[in-house]
Amino acid sequence: MLVSYKRVLITGGYGFIGSALVRKLLHQTKLKILNIDKIGYASNLSSVNKLIESNKNFYQERYSFLKIDLLNSNDLKNAIFEFKPNLVFHLAAETHVDKSIINPNKFVTNNIIGTSNLLEILNQYFKGLSLSEKNLFKFIHVSTDEVFGSLGKNGKFSEISPYKPNSPYAASKAGSDHLVKAWSKTYGFPAIVTNCSNNFGPWQFPEKLIPLTISKSLKKEAIPLYGNGKNVRDWIYVEDHVNALIECANNGKINSSYCIGGNNEISNINLVNLICTILDEKKPWEKSYKTLIKFVLDRAGHDYRYAIDSSKIKSELEWKPTHNFEESLSLTIDWYLKENDQ
Ligand SMILES: NC(=O)c1ccc[n+]([C@@H]2O[C@H](COP(=O)([O-])OP(=O)(O)OC[C@H]3O[C@@H](n4cnc5c(N)ncnc54)[C@H](O)[C@@H]3O)[C@@H](O)[C@H]2O)c1
Repeated sequence: MLVSYKRVLITGGYGFIGSALVRKLLHQTKLKILNIDKIGYASNLSSVNKLIESNKNFYQERYSFLKIDLLNSNDLKNAIFEFKPNLVFHLAAETHVDKSIINPNKFVTNNIIGTSNLLEILNQYFKGLSLSEKNLFKFIHVSTDEVFGSLGKNGKFSEISPYKPNSPYAASKAGSDHLVKAWSKTYGFPAIVTNCSNNFGPWQFPEKLIPLTISKSLKKEAIPLYGNGKNVRDWIYVEDHVNALIECANNGKINSSYCIGGNNEISNINLVNLICTILDEKKPWEKSYKTLIKFVLDRAGHDYRYAIDSSKIKSELEWKPTHNFEESLSLTIDWYLKENDQ
């Protein structure tokens, strides 16, 4: 896995998906990893540090972390020129749609200017590499299907779908995707953009639907559900997403994009009911957790449906999701139950 590379930079490596990538690369490769994260509210240091402490001799010398905000160009430049990455996964972003509706400017600054700073510095660094180092170097920009807007009852997003973002979060991610594509085209910067559907798994901050439902249930608090709960999302287990990102780094074509989805479409209401059913079995109390569900005023501009056609990455890179949705959901719930008991 990633055998050609030696040093990988991961931005946002203390976030939900970034930490899953760091853990996988620490565990299954010999790569040196630099994690750059500003440590925002959604970061969790234990998501990586627990693994490192489990076998310090094995992991510690391959892993380093720098607390840097991508908006701080000086520190970012020093870190990059000193570490000399030959592969970069860019995951750092503000990611919660609701927060983007309340404070859109923060998302524009963080996600667009942050990505632009990173591109600017990496492109300077890239230009100074030898030809063989240039041929190896890749930048994987991790984005979302939300940049494509909302689907009706039919159809799926693919690499040729037009960008039609609706929320400030989606628009800020779309802006950062466009910057990456512009740097590719204009400066020959070797980048790949990935657009993935909704992820779930351990270590996700409990503001997103699945961990929110679990944590509200465990506290016996109301489980808020927007509108009529009929909005549909295509869920993917985080490890399947991480495997897809690794395949993009291994064999993905530079200056192209890949859509990644789990092919698990489910409405929010059905998903929340399913989580409650699993919790009723795993941690019974006198009522069903379903009695906690409370419909609340719909999110402004709420996208109705997302679904991904992953045929390109399946055929070009021979990636496919391997985790069964219900089994992974059950494992995820077990993980949150265990965390809650600690
Ligand atoms: N979670 C999903 O369902 C999903 C789906 C598709 C794509 N994505 C994309 O994947 C990436 C990771 O998502 P996540 O769910 O792990 O997010 P997250 O919110 O859990 O973690 C993001 C991490 O990035 C860091 N960060 C944010 N801005 C930064 C900055 N300016 N400088 C340095 N660090 C910064 C945060 O501190 C945090 O640790 C994001 O780019 C997101 O758009 C997420």
